[in-house]
Amino acid sequence: MSQQIVILGIFVADAAYRADRLPRLGETILGHHFRLGPGGKGSNQSVAAARAGGDVHFITRLGRDAFADMARDLWRDAGVTPDVTEDPDSYTGSAFIFLEAATGQNAIIVAQGAAARISVADVEARRGLIEGAGLFMTQLEQPLDAAEHGLRIARGAGVRTILNPAPAAELTDEMLSLCDLITPNESEAEGLTGVTVTTFADAEAAADRLIARGVGAAIITMGEKGVLYRKGGQSLHVPARASGPVVDTTGAGDAFNGGLAVALSQGAAMEQALQFGAAVAGISVTRHGAASAMPTRSEVEAFLRG
Ligand code: RIB
Ligand code: NA
Repeated sequence: MSQQIVILGIFVADAAYRADRLPRLGETILGHHFRLGPGGKGSNQSVAAARAGGDVHFITRLGRDAFADMARDLWRDAGVTPDVTEDPDSYTGSAFIFLEAATGQNAIIVAQGAAARISVADVEARRGLIEGAGLFMTQLEQPLDAAEHGLRIARGAGVRTILNPAPAAELTDEMLSLCDLITPNESEAEGLTGVTVTTFADAEAAADRLIARGVGAAIITMGEKGVLYRKGGQSLHVPARASGPVVDTTGAGDAFNGGLAVALSQGAAMEQALQFGAAVAGISVTRHGAASAMPTRSEVEAFLRG
C-alpha cells in the first residue's frame, strides 16, 4: 500500500562550477567544469521520492521561462505530479553552486525567484490535497509562514509531517511542535539547538533538545557518518555507504529525505526507512548533479541487496 506524499518547496536551476577550491572574495580562479541542471530542495526531494516509487505531488511556484520548462520536463520524466502557481512577471529561481573537486563538497547561493512568493494562501488553496495525503514534507527555501501553514494543515488532519529544516533558520517551538519528524544536518541541528554536532553523542543531545522543543522525533544527517534517529531516549544509527566513488554530494540530503518519505509512505518500520533513505543518498553522491542523480527504485533495491 502506498500513501500519497505531498511536498511543498522550490525548484531552481542549479548552475554548478567545479574547481580545486572555492575562490576568495576579490579573487578569480579557473574551474574544471560547468553543469546546468535541475535543483531546489523540495523539487529534488520530490524527484527522489517519485523515482524511488512514491506517489508524489509537489506544490510550488515557477516563472514562465526556460528554467520553468526544465522543471516541467524533469517532473514529467520522474513521475512527479506538479501543483504549480505560475508567475509570468517573476522568474524561475536558480542556484549558484561551487563544487570542490577533491571532496565533492559544495557551497551554494540560492535565488528563489517566483518561489519566494509561495504564500499561506497558496498552501491554503491546496488544503484538500494535503489533508488527503499520507505524508506531508517541506523545507525552508520558501517563506517560513507557508511551510508552517502546510505543517499545520497536515497536523490538523492527522497526516504525518516531516520538516527538513534547510537552509538553516530560526524556528519557534510552535512550528517545531507541528513536526512528527525533523531532519537537520549537523550544522542545522547546531543552529536550532546550540549543540555543536560532531559525534553521535552530540547528535543525541541535539535531538533531545529538539524533542524538548516539541518535535516528535529527530533524524540528524551526518554526511559520511550516516544518520542518527532519536525518539523517547532511544537511538538508531544507520551508517552511510556510497555505491561507488563520491563525485558530488549536492542534494544528498534531499535524496535521503525523499527515500525516507517513500519508505514511510509504504508502511516501512523506521529502521528500514532510514536504510532506504541512506541507500538513495548513497547512490546519489556517486553521480553529478542534484535531481539528475536520484536513483530509480530498482537501483535502490539492488544496492540494498548488494
Ligand atoms: O539541497 C541541494 C539543493 O540546495 C541544490 O539543488 C540547490 O538548488 C539548493 O537549493
Ligand atoms: Na549528486
